[in-house]
Amino acid sequence: MKTLLFVFGTRPEAIKCAPVILKAHKDPRFKVLVCSTGQHREMIRPLFDFFGIKPDFDLDLMRPGQTLIDISMGVMSGLNKILNENKIDAVVVQGDTTSGFIGSLVAFYNKVSVVHIEAGLRSGDIYSPFPEEFNRKGTALVSKVHLAPTETAKENLLHEHYPAEDIFVTGNTGIDALFEVKRKIAATPQLQTEVAGKYSFLNPKRKMILVTVHRRESFGEPMEEVMKGLLELSRREDLELMIPLHMNPQVRASAKKIFGDNAQWIDKGETLNPANKIWLCEPVDYVPFIYLMDKAHMIITDSGGVQEEAPSLGKPILVAREKTERPEAIAAGTSKLIPLEQAKFFKMASEVLDTPEIFNRMSQAKNPFGDGKASEKILDILDTKL
Ligand code: UD1
Ligand code: UDP
Repeated sequence: MKTLLFVFGTRPEAIKCAPVILKAHKDPRFKVLVCSTGQHREMIRPLFDFFGIKPDFDLDLMRPGQTLIDISMGVMSGLNKILNENKIDAVVVQGDTTSGFIGSLVAFYNKVSVVHIEAGLRSGDIYSPFPEEFNRKGTALVSKVHLAPTETAKENLLHEHYPAEDIFVTGNTGIDALFEVKRKIAATPQLQTEVAGKYSFLNPKRKMILVTVHRRESFGEPMEEVMKGLLELSRREDLELMIPLHMNPQVRASAKKIFGDNAQWIDKGETLNPANKIWLCEPVDYVPFIYLMDKAHMIITDSGGVQEEAPSLGKPILVAREKTERPEAIAAGTSKLIPLEQAKFFKMASEVLDTPEIFNRMSQAKNPFGDGKASEKILDILDTKL
């Protein structure tokens, strides 16, 4: 039996590791341990509850306004101690966060094998997304097994001369998680009613645009240009915007500056004004977020995970980034990069909304990122490779 230690700290890692952890728990070939770095706190806790995962180790790192150095130092010392005190066959990390990259580095220094889920994504620009492009390249350097979600990701790794026998195309585990949630929602009518009730203030006569933004490289002017473009969009009579706001203080400061009194928070106990067009809220739990994605007319986001999920729901995606490491959705015709400049942003969003040929083409429900079976493939691969 091989002991796998999953190391992660943020919301998307929890969502994408959960299906693998849950499957491995039931698999006699593996013993599973989970280390939450605590890079996120409020944004990850509901996911542990939802998936029924109890971390074996919690480094409890989250501090408001934390720097990349704070996170890195905390993961280094905390994980080093765990690896010194426990016999671990492989450390499993996912994606490109600082928790994952430093986790892989500490494993390497301890001569413990590293398994990288969602390996091989590349934008080609080390500063975009920052610091994620570096984090995933660094993780690849120390990984023994590269689990690429798509053929494109595999090609990227081959191009960097990683051995073909260590690279496997599995699909993205985020799609496994999405299928699981959709199953749960469909099987629990009371969950559907509960979630629908929470958003009953949305005006059925308007199209709802769901928005999330949080990338570090966009902080300041680029993110504020996007927000100005959103404000302009919100003036259209046929639209309303729903924006679950990331907890990063920089995102909150820009939203306050640009939206001001033109937005209303839904979860601060205020009476909601039906004439309001921009709704802000705290980060939404995973089930209600999927509900909102499903209800949305269109999605505007800089999130990696949302770009991967939306095509399964047949929702057009405008990606508020200069570059994407997920070109598959653009190639499949379901997403487009949108300029981070108010006038061009507004022009492109309006064009997609108002041109049925473009909108319908982007609404096809076909997902290039996975088929929901990545986790079982991953466990079979680990059984032979570790
Ligand atoms: C991190 C990842 C990013 C990923 C994102 C997912 C890095 C460098 N960045 O960015 O790749 O896309 O998570 O959301 O690893 N905060 C809270 N409570 C929380 C979470 C965050 O208050 O539960 C606030 C804190 O003030 C914290 C700040 O947000 O200091 C930033 O969190 P951090 O994890 O450093 O960066 P993210 O922008 O979330
Ligand atoms: N998500 C969520 N609630 C939200 C926003 C996003 O549950 O309010 C989910 C979303 O469905 C996706 C993941 O969080 O699975 C994406 O996380 P995030 O955008 O924070 O990070 P990224 O994917 O960009 O690294």
